Amino acid sequence: MSAMFEVKNLSVQFPLGRMKTPEGRRKVVLKAVDRLTFDIRAGECLGVVGESGSGKSTIARCMLNLLTPTGGEIVYDGKNIVGLTGPDIKKLRCELQIVFQNPRSSFNPKMQVGRILSNVARFYGMDGDEAGKRIDELSQLMGIGRDITSHRSGELSGGQLQRLALVRALIPSPRFLVADEALSALDVSVQAQILDLFSGLKASLGLTMMFISHDLTVTEYLCDRAMVLYLGRIMEIADADALFADPKHPYTRSLIAAKPEIELGKDRKKTLLKGEVPDAVNIPAGCRFCTRCPDAIEGLCDTEEPEMAEISPGHFTACHIYNI
Ligand SMILES: Nc1ncnc2c1ncn2[C@@H]1O[C@H](COP(=O)(O)OP(=O)(O)OP(=O)(O)O)[C@@H](O)[C@H]1O
Ligand SMILES: [Mg+2]
Repeated sequence: MSAMFEVKNLSVQFPLGRMKTPEGRRKVVLKAVDRLTFDIRAGECLGVVGESGSGKSTIARCMLNLLTPTGGEIVYDGKNIVGLTGPDIKKLRCELQIVFQNPRSSFNPKMQVGRILSNVARFYGMDGDEAGKRIDELSQLMGIGRDITSHRSGELSGGQLQRLALVRALIPSPRFLVADEALSALDVSVQAQILDLFSGLKASLGLTMMFISHDLTVTEYLCDRAMVLYLGRIMEIADADALFADPKHPYTRSLIAAKPEIELGKDRKKTLLKGEVPDAVNIPAGCRFCTRCPDAIEGLCDTEEPEMAEISPGHFTACHIYNI
């Protein structure tokens, strides 16, 4: 599979102004994403997991050109799209789309569903007939009945709204769709229905996807590959089956052990995550996970940042325990 995206050394720093630090008052920057290199292959669904604040949404915003990274490149179809301007941006806006966590906050509750969708179609340059056809086709695919179009969006349930968000995102026939916690605000039964829609999208529309989620079970079910982030760095990336069946990085193991359905046992106790995620402004030296890692090696993990290494074909992890 060829790469649709090649992300190289992507970094995003947010300046937080001058702050009091142990070294006195100084300018502080928050490293939300730190020198990330990965690719997204055409036709695949890449899962992105990691605790809150690990940089998942920041990456998504960069990929969609909604945020300009501080450093690095995002090569899309062979062309670096960082800092792109002019007509190329419009083309990107059509081809790259996103669905967010809370559909309620992304629609005007007073506006009629039919009008919302036809406005979007018009924005993408479709005429009335073309728009009507496309909206009908997608509404059918997403299981939205015709009767809904006369309702205001504020009258819809969370599940209906998320279907609507999907229709809206798919109107311009994107090639790439990011789902950023798109299931988290929904009831479990509705989550399952929307999950089925996502899993059908690859087959029915040939979409390439980036699926951001806290839910490892869903990620394992839906994604071809998965990438595990911790404080803005990749800890592990591999085929989803391999990553979940045989996680290599102690952080991935801890995340998997924290899955609620796993029975409490010796292994789970050993690997359960201790403590809080460190402050993204004061990232620990060496491996940034070392302050919480059950396998940390003193004098190595707390001083030297591990390089990403391929420890079996297609399975990469950044951890010193595989290099000693
Ligand atoms: N505009 C901003 N200004 C300052 N800091 C920001 C900004 N946006 C994000 N951050 C910080 O960047 C880090 C990464 O945030 P991001 O939203 O990408 O995390 P996330 O993995 O999506 O988390 P969540 O799971 O909670 O959605 C966090 O420490 C966050 O506080
Ligand atoms: Mg987020």
